[in-house]
Amino acid sequence: MFALPHLDLPPLRGAAGTVRLPGSKSISNRVLLLAGLAEGTTEIHDLLDSDDTRVMLQALRALGCSLERLEADGAVLRVQGLGGRLRVREAELFLGNAGTAMRPLAAALAVLAATQGGCFELRGVPRMHERPIGDLVDALRPLGCRIDELGTPGYPPLRVSGQAGGRLATRQPIRVRGDVSSQFLTALLLALPLVSDAGDVVVEVEGELISKPYVEITLALLARFGIQVQRAGWSRFTIPQGSRYRTPGRIHVEGDASSASYFVALGAIAALDAPVRIEGVGRDSIQGDIAFLDAAAAMGAQVHAGPNWIEVRRGRWPLQAIELDCNAIPDAAMTLAVMALYAQGTTRLSGIASWRVKETDRITAMAAELGRLGAQVDSGDDFIAVTPPAQWRAAALATYDDHRMAMCLSLAAFNPLAGAKPPVPIRIEDPGCVAKTFPDYFETLFGIVQADPAEVPVIAVDGPSASGKGTLAAALAQRLGWHLLDSGAVYRALALAALRQGVVPEDEPALLRLAAALDLRFEGERVWLGGEEIGDELRREETGAMASRVAALPAVRRALHALQLSFHRAPGLVADGRDMGTVVFPGAALKVFLTASAAERAKRRHKQLISKGIDTKITTLLADIEARDARDRSRSAAPLRAAEDALQLDNSQLGIDESVELVLQWWRQRNPLDRGR
Ligand code: DC
Repeated sequence: MFALPHLDLPPLRGAAGTVRLPGSKSISNRVLLLAGLAEGTTEIHDLLDSDDTRVMLQALRALGCSLERLEADGAVLRVQGLGGRLRVREAELFLGNAGTAMRPLAAALAVLAATQGGCFELRGVPRMHERPIGDLVDALRPLGCRIDELGTPGYPPLRVSGQAGGRLATRQPIRVRGDVSSQFLTALLLALPLVSDAGDVVVEVEGELISKPYVEITLALLARFGIQVQRAGWSRFTIPQGSRYRTPGRIHVEGDASSASYFVALGAIAALDAPVRIEGVGRDSIQGDIAFLDAAAAMGAQVHAGPNWIEVRRGRWPLQAIELDCNAIPDAAMTLAVMALYAQGTTRLSGIASWRVKETDRITAMAAELGRLGAQVDSGDDFIAVTPPAQWRAAALATYDDHRMAMCLSLAAFNPLAGAKPPVPIRIEDPGCVAKTFPDYFETLFGIVQADPAEVPVIAVDGPSASGKGTLAAALAQRLGWHLLDSGAVYRALALAALRQGVVPEDEPALLRLAAALDLRFEGERVWLGGEEIGDELRREETGAMASRVAALPAVRRALHALQLSFHRAPGLVADGRDMGTVVFPGAALKVFLTASAAERAKRRHKQLISKGIDTKITTLLADIEARDARDRSRSAAPLRAAEDALQLDNSQLGIDESVELVLQWWRQRNPLDRGR
């Protein structure tokens, strides 16, 4: 999904199955910082691998921590900590849009530079430079930290610096505001143990502390690293004198509870028969967003949860509108705003002023995008109220470089379940922004959703041997974020299985037995047969020749039909072969028939073989191709021909990019989300 300008979701109608969540962002970045500051080695299991953790890892590396991925298991990271001693005195750190990296690193480096000497610059993407950090700066300066704002006062980029031997005024309580972001308090709690030698360090919170559960995560993780912060209510925190980070040796990162919210909502909206099961996080989670389960249940979800799993089905339907103060679950609250599309009445979420200083101004963003779908939205400084659409509208939804906007809004594709007439497709702009916390979000979603095949678009690409349809189809699938079916590979795999077992093309019963047992798996352009990767063998001329013979048998074609149909899944399919448009997907939304001349195709195949170091004559190749064409055209079963409604594409003179652009242009002319734009 990474480089896609947008991803179109067809109307979706159900969901069931199991998902495993990536690690929690909040836990991952806190654990990374603590492991980086601690003495000794920490093995971190199931760390989140995403944009926000990558910038933290880069920062730790730049500061001289050694980081090692354990070969045997990519999910384990070994961190050799600094033991509270700066190893690098000068660095420029780029922290993307990760608040969970910017705030704590700013605090930790400010106190380290002030006492040990050093100079560090912390920057991010332009949006990071619009996210406030002034309250943290104001808390640190009276201690004696030198912090320069390099752009707008109160915002990153920052420079923190100091001389070796400096002392900090840690005797008086350190005061910090708690009502803009709880990350300022978290940053102080993570950093101040570094300067607790002279006595207890007290932090006092001014104003009502928001997002308290995130501070609980901080306290729980500090405890795992040997630091017992004493807390008086939510306004006074004491770090005991002489606190030292001690590595727990190994630590496990739970699945992300905020990411779980999309699948909990999915279960509440679309798990009609079997549940949606979420693994990696459960009732015992230390993440505050787990309280989202109660809010979802209040809206009607049927939730069961164990220590490390959650199962959700649809309960009440339509969902029940709620009024809720979401101060404690600001991130997951966004999911409630989208669930509101499926509720009876108006859902009013308050206590969400912090939405305005997140990845984007989420109140404005959410109001605008839900409005595009037809919902009625009212919003203010710290609330949003959503009434479902009376009439759903197909819409292209902006995501504001905000992962949660993209993930939340994908749930609008279930509009048929809300009775949308007609059901509408939706477009998610810049779907790659989910990489901030959940790089595989859309693949995970598509893995458990159900759609009406008639509503899932297919582009069929048919044509003769060596016409370049495989390359064209793969490029189209990638550009659209759709599944790919290389039906030639299905026939070739059967041919390969037959060749290996000595089955001759005349032995139809044996071929059918092989077809029924064909254990094929595709991943992008790689192919496995019964667990063995067979890509190279599939492309051999001998396999192709055998494929052409077995593919001529009507019974074999029938036996492989269902397997090919199983690729027809949301969000869409590009299928290439000989009979995609005529037989397998006669209802395809767009049919393309390639017609490059045999001479041109022989030339291409020749070039391809030469590049692989295989020496052949063009004349032999041309004869082969013509013979294959004749056999594919003249056979009685599904002969090679263009569907009546196919668009002919002679790509003899076109490069691959031009062919792809042309077909995408044809697709845009038919796509309801593009027409009229
Ligand atoms: O496209 P290809 O060369 O990989 O196809 C291998 C053989 O399979 C080819 O000779 C024709 C046959 N085939 C078919 O009959 N129907 C399809 N949909 C795809 C391939």
